[in-house]
Amino acid sequence: MNQRISVCGKGGSGKSTIVALLTEELAIRHWRVIVVDSDESNACLHWMLGFEHAPRPLLELVGGKRNVQQQMRRRSSSTDGSNTGVLSKPEFAVGDLPAEYVVENNGRALVTVGKIHQSLEGCACPMGVLSREFLKKLKLADDEMLVVDMEAGIEHFGRGVETSIDAVVAVVEPSLESLVLAEKVQQLASQAGAHFAGTIINKAHSADVASTLSAELRTRQLPALGMIPYDEGLLAASLTGQRIRFTGDEVPHIVDQLLEAHPSGRFITSTTNDNRG
Ligand SMILES: Nc1ncnc2c1ncn2[C@@H]1O[C@H](COP(=O)(O)OP(=O)(O)OP(=O)(O)O)[C@@H](O)[C@H]1O
Ligand SMILES: [Mg+2]
Repeated sequence: MNQRISVCGKGGSGKSTIVALLTEELAIRHWRVIVVDSDESNACLHWMLGFEHAPRPLLELVGGKRNVQQQMRRRSSSTDGSNTGVLSKPEFAVGDLPAEYVVENNGRALVTVGKIHQSLEGCACPMGVLSREFLKKLKLADDEMLVVDMEAGIEHFGRGVETSIDAVVAVVEPSLESLVLAEKVQQLASQAGAHFAGTIINKAHSADVASTLSAELRTRQLPALGMIPYDEGLLAASLTGQRIRFTGDEVPHIVDQLLEAHPSGRFITSTTNDNRG
């Protein structure tokens, strides 16, 4: 049973926070969770997950951005299909990566695609290409779940990063822009052949705001998997680089919804997987 979930949404809506919360909950249920940081501007996800340092970016494993750009040029001019991509193997497991490219702890692993380090580095397309190829070639074991922290916005759809994703989730914060983007995510996910699992309402700071957002989602026929309220503890943790913790029952509820939402039924978790008693 393999699962690949991507978390999308507007910049600052709470994608990384929600990736960390989903990861914690899936790990509690004894899934081995592989988190892929596909956002070239995220700097703090490893802290949110409780890791002391980030892994080396995959971009270094494949010879850097320039090398990926060369491969992209070669691929576009190759007519015989001999160019198989920037990652040498046709498929691999996370355990096949050199140790410095993965940080692991308590059934959670983090892999990061690449970061922009300098101004005028040029566009982030090589990171998109590498994300797409890595996700496509990554093989999961039966007890593994993949959770991808996507870059803000929808450009990743244009780069085909979703082609190997089973379930796309859109985080919606209390803003019209965020709602409109979630609609677009739903549309693009279905065009990419990925299942749109639903939205997660985040940062609603009052019952009124939460119910307005829920009504807006219904009007737009966007399914809601659940809601994470505005929480000072979450904000403080990300401000100080602490591991994200949240004790409400909203996250287990979202994970239940998320796992049951998949049309293939493959997402349904066994209650024996749940060790909270
Ligand atoms: N439910 C919440 N309650 C309070 N603060 C939150 C909540 N969710 C996220 N935040 C805060 O909002 C800010 C943005 O969150 P986060 O970094 O997770 O968003 P993001 O979508 O990943 O951003 P980016 O697009 O920059 O990657 C952080 O300061 C975070 O602590
Ligand atoms: Mg982020």
